[in-house]
Amino acid sequence: MSSNETKNPDDIICGCTGTSKEKIKQLIQSGKSDIEAITSATGATTGCGSCDVIIVNYIKQQKEPPSS
Ligand code: FES
Repeated sequence: MSSNETKNPDDIICGCTGTSKEKIKQLIQSGKSDIEAITSATGATTGCGSCDVIIVNYIKQQKEPPSS
């Protein structure tokens, strides 16, 4: 089994749905910048729900560029 699409486990933000941070970043960039839009696009937070706050914080982080 070989895959050139190697996934870093750290990149998965929602283990239940296998949603990656990269995926969420892409959604934010395409205008789906709230938790509801991301949930409906990926199913994230619909499993155990433990990633909810992590994703909300991640969205916030992505929307607010780190101050220099
Ligand atoms: S880790 Fe996202 S719903 Fe369980």
